[in-house]
Amino acid sequence: MKIAFIGGGIMGEAMIKGVLGQGVARPQDITASDVDRERLSTLSHGYGIKASASNREAIEGSEVVVLAIKPQNLKQVMDDLQGQAKEQLFLSIVAGASMATISKGLEHNLVVRAMPNTPAQIGEGITVWTASDEVSQGQKEMAQSILGALGREIYVNDEEYIDIATAVSGSGPAYILLIIEALVDAAAHIGWPRETAMELVLETVLGTARLVKTTGKQPAVLRKMVTSPGGTTEEALHQLEEGGFRDLIDRAVVAAYEKAKILGGE
Ligand SMILES: NC(=O)c1ccc[n+]([C@@H]2O[C@H](COP(=O)([O-])OP(=O)(O)OC[C@H]3O[C@@H](n4cnc5c(N)ncnc54)[C@H](OP(=O)(O)O)[C@@H]3O)[C@@H](O)[C@H]2O)c1
Repeated sequence: MKIAFIGGGIMGEAMIKGVLGQGVARPQDITASDVDRERLSTLSHGYGIKASASNREAIEGSEVVVLAIKPQNLKQVMDDLQGQAKEQLFLSIVAGASMATISKGLEHNLVVRAMPNTPAQIGEGITVWTASDEVSQGQKEMAQSILGALGREIYVNDEEYIDIATAVSGSGPAYILLIIEALVDAAAHIGWPRETAMELVLETVLGTARLVKTTGKQPAVLRKMVTSPGGTTEEALHQLEEGGFRDLIDRAVVAAYEKAKILGGE
C-alpha cells in the first residue's frame, strides 16, 4: 500500500512505525512530508522511507494520504492540497476536524476520520474511526489495516461518536496519567520511597485493567469483592465518593466532549 504522511510528529511517527512493523506497507511505499526538515530527515533515515519537502509532491501516486498535522496547521495544508487529490483516500487524525471541513477544504470527498490515542506509539492504542459515504469497501479495508497497526480499532457509522471517543479514549491517557501521578504522590506522602512508587502504581493500574478484561466481570463487581465492610479500601473509597470523584470524572469528560464539538465547528 502506498501511503503519504503529511506531518511526521508524535502520531505520524507512531503510524509509520506501526504500518512498517505490521507489514502493512514497505518503507519504499511510504513518503513523509513535514515542514520540520530535521524531523523529516530523522524519519527518513530512521525508517528508510522517502521524504518530501512538498506536501503536493508527497501525495503523488499515493493510495492513502494520512493527515497527521496539528489542528492549527490544517487550513494551511488543505489550502496547499486543495484540488490536488485524485482517487486517494484522505485519512485524518486531526482532532476536532469534521469530515465536512476536510472534504470542503480539499474539494475531495474520500475521507476517513479517526481518533487514535497515544498508546499507539507502542501498538497498544485504541482508535475509533468513520468514513464518508463515498469511501469504497476496499478503501475502508486499507484504513482498517493502517489503524489496526496502532492497536485496536473500532469502526462507527455516525461521526458523532468520534467526538465522544475524543473525550474518552483520545484524551483518556491524560486522565489515567494524572491518576498515576496522584497515586505516586500519595504513596510517597505516606512513606513509600518515591523511586520505586511508580512500579507499585503502574503494576496496579496494568493488573487491574487486565483483571477486568480477563475475568469479563463488571468493575463494580470486582471492586465490591475487594471492599470488606469496615476495611481499608472502604475507607479510601468513602473519601473518593465524598469528594465527588465520579461527578468530577463525568464533568471532565463532558467538558472535553463539548470542546471537541466546538473545535469541530458545531
Ligand atoms: N497526541 C495525541 O494524543 C493525539 C491523539 C489523537 C489525535 N491526535 C491528533 O494528531 C495530530 C498530530 O498530533 P501530534 O501530536 O503528532 O502533533 P505534532 O507532534 O506537532 O506533529 C505534527 C507535525 O506536523 C508538522 N507540520 C506543521 N505544519 C505542517 C505543514 N503545513 N505541512 C507538513 N507538516 C507540517 C509539524 O511541524 P512543526 O512542529 O515544525 O510545526 C510537526 O512535525 C493532531 O491533529 C492531533 O489532534 C493526537
